Amino acid sequence: MRSETAPAIRLEDYQPPAYRIDKVYLDILLDPAATRVTATLTVAGQDDTSVGTPLVLDGDELKLTALKLNGAALSEDAFEASPERLEIMKPPATPFDLTIETEINPEANTKLMGLYRSSGTFCTQCEAEGFRRITYFLDRPDVLAVYTTRLEAPRTSCPILLANGNLIEAGDVSERDRHFAIWHDPHPKPAYLFALVAGDLAKVPDEFVTVSGKQVELNIFVEHGKEDLCGWAMDSLKRSMRWDEEVYGLEYDLNVFNIVAVSDFNMGAMENKGLNIFNDKYVLADPETATDQDYANIEAVIAHEYFHNWTGNRITCRDWFQLCLKEGLTVFRDQEFSSDMRSRPVKRIADVRLLKSHQFPEDAGPLAHPVRPRVYHEINNFYTATVYEKGAEVVRMLKTVLGDEKFHAGLDLYFKRHDGEATTIEAFLKCFEDAAATDLSQFALWYEQAGTPVVSVKTRHDPEEQTFTVSLSQEIPPVPSQKTSKPAVIPLRFGLIGPNGDDIAVASHAGAEISGDVLLLDKARQEVTFNNIPTPPVLSLLRGFSAPVRLDQQLGSEDLLFLASKDNDPFNRWQAVQSLAMQDLVRLTARIRQEETCVPTEDVIEVFGAVLSDPSLDAALRAQALTLPSEADIAQEIGKNVDPDAILKARRMLREAIARSHAPALLPFVTDFASKGDYSPDAENSGKRALSNRALHYLAMSGREDAAQIVWDWFATADNMTDRLAALTLLVHDDMKQKEAALAHYRNRHETSTLAMDKWFMTQATAPGDKTLQKVQDLMNDPLYDASNPNRVRSLLQSFATGNPTQFARTDGQGFELIAEAVLQLDKRNPQVASRLLTSFRSWRALDPQRSALAETALMKISSCEELSRDSRDIVDRTLQ
Ligand code: TRP
Ligand code: ZN
Repeated sequence: MRSETAPAIRLEDYQPPAYRIDKVYLDILLDPAATRVTATLTVAGQDDTSVGTPLVLDGDELKLTALKLNGAALSEDAFEASPERLEIMKPPATPFDLTIETEINPEANTKLMGLYRSSGTFCTQCEAEGFRRITYFLDRPDVLAVYTTRLEAPRTSCPILLANGNLIEAGDVSERDRHFAIWHDPHPKPAYLFALVAGDLAKVPDEFVTVSGKQVELNIFVEHGKEDLCGWAMDSLKRSMRWDEEVYGLEYDLNVFNIVAVSDFNMGAMENKGLNIFNDKYVLADPETATDQDYANIEAVIAHEYFHNWTGNRITCRDWFQLCLKEGLTVFRDQEFSSDMRSRPVKRIADVRLLKSHQFPEDAGPLAHPVRPRVYHEINNFYTATVYEKGAEVVRMLKTVLGDEKFHAGLDLYFKRHDGEATTIEAFLKCFEDAAATDLSQFALWYEQAGTPVVSVKTRHDPEEQTFTVSLSQEIPPVPSQKTSKPAVIPLRFGLIGPNGDDIAVASHAGAEISGDVLLLDKARQEVTFNNIPTPPVLSLLRGFSAPVRLDQQLGSEDLLFLASKDNDPFNRWQAVQSLAMQDLVRLTARIRQEETCVPTEDVIEVFGAVLSDPSLDAALRAQALTLPSEADIAQEIGKNVDPDAILKARRMLREAIARSHAPALLPFVTDFASKGDYSPDAENSGKRALSNRALHYLAMSGREDAAQIVWDWFATADNMTDRLAALTLLVHDDMKQKEAALAHYRNRHETSTLAMDKWFMTQATAPGDKTLQKVQDLMNDPLYDASNPNRVRSLLQSFATGNPTQFARTDGQGFELIAEAVLQLDKRNPQVASRLLTSFRSWRALDPQRSALAETALMKISSCEELSRDSRDIVDRTLQ
């Protein structure tokens, strides 16, 4: 026995709705266990063909308590209601008002979708299909309505009452302690952008004057006592607002912009119109509890949600297949914002690292899907790295292919042509075709085809003809759900580097379209010949990672060493260092597996030393280059028959060799780059801290007698979380003797900060070594563990499953079992969190036979559960298929 798979929803079946809902008036009497929602919908048939069509509204676990049509109660045989749907059999032909009263229980809502409570605060999450858990509705993104929301609650427990749009009225309700607020949002929007918040929260106010001189009130609402943690988020918000005006000409469009931080949230944050709701980890920060990475994430997520106001809210998606229309574009925009605020190359490296570590494995495994999927069973499972991160890469490629000017002309046209609409990828691309007078039909394949293309490269220099020939081919490896694939348009940014390190100006070439430094590969095979090249150059290809592809260039270590020191593209310099390390790590892993003795190559060790002390590279870039590929990255490169233990050994071997060779040089980098004193999270200061902590990471394994002492001192004297956590991680992951003392010390210091304690759980869950499994089990029984808090679950279990490859894939199967059991438990409470955890099995077929058999057993156990949620059923089915 097993639960049924939900029916497939297909893009090709899209039909516009038969009815419009132009206006929504919500009257909500808030109560923890029995909230009464009265929704008055102004409904009209879309056109003549709607006449006589039943009106079918979506619901989810709803209880209907009253129903009226144009003010009169409907007779029992005129409608049919269940928790999942409300059907009005014969609606009038003329526009009518439908008044629906439902009663809901926010306190019992453990899925955190719809209206729920987080630490006593009422809040909502409606994307993708949560609004139907509040009232019956046409809960689809192409139904756009103007919302007015009246909230009523006791003044003492709920002094703050918020909804979308502008506040138009507030006051006392005659009886007892109650008060109300009425919010009106003039911009038509789909139901997934509806939000309300009510509770006893502190308000951090500010303001922003838009480019046209409009005054906007800004507020961040947080739990009392956390006001001082909002400064960075507010600063990021104001910089985002200014940037969107300056770079895109986009201005804010309401009188007020509210942000609320809540501690129980399924995802990162949500762009509800005028009322963004955030996971508090993307709002709250001070140097004592947040790392530099946290600061950078807050800046990016605040920007992301703010940018959705245009790319997502003013222009929304016709259906959920078009999710990348808002997400890919908005991620691209937040990446560009962060690049402008910080170092562009460092940001690019960080984004590519994320893409390769999250999206590439997704695209190479059973959960692979196109950026715009054609079929889904549960939309919540499509908020993926492919839709978000690869979706952003596709927008970036569009910019590369068209050039900045035409790209911006296309976007301007998009905002003009589709403002106020729910639209599609086709309509988006059409704007660029029209603005640039070009044909993007082949480019559109990036939205259609799953799988990461592999670009293979061979070069040949002919000294007689003085030509340099580059042979290119592209291929998408087999994807389970995809029979064939066609050649994509792949923009390859490149340079031909001469012996002195300068790029050679290419005067004449044949075989491909080249504009500026971008070569367009648009056929399965292409041969490009450059003329007048007397001496053999080194080809630096895919500069800036100009396309989301795997490059098979087979550069020898001599060329890689040359690129690592000479390439004037900082991204490819970084890439060359990484490739050198990766080649060696793969070789070492194979040797270790065969139980052969082996040592790392001198090349890699030397290059790391050179990077460490290269003054021409800024500190952040050096820190990135000195970070070895992760265990998961190495596993991905190996691709099949993966043995995580051998990978861990190889990685430690290389780290130790680098550390020992450069031992005398390391300490000054730790201390000289430390930014003691006034903390600032900006690019320069965080870059310095990154380099000093990277040096410390090697120093810990350098063989110095005082290494452990230095790490401990670093931990004990740190005046910021970045340094403290870096040292704690070394103490715990390198199993140093002071590790228990450090964990106790940290806990004592941060016990009252949930966000700081998440890091404490995560550090322990990701420690290599076979004692970690027991540790994780113990921590699940720690009084601070809370299975109802998604951040806490992620910090312990998700980080174990994704950040601890050897222990998750233990050869006794206990790592898989632990996670499988946790998925089954969590699934009853919060399907979204459970199914996300379940995706950590996605690369199971790449493991060695013993481990993959154990993973399959764990997956089968989940699959055989009779009461699996639709979310987890979908993931387990696809993972096993
Ligand atoms: N639209 C949100 C964003 O990317 C994502 C999101 C937040 C979400 N909460 C969610 C998606 C819950 C699905 C379910 O900014
Ligand atoms: Zn988003």
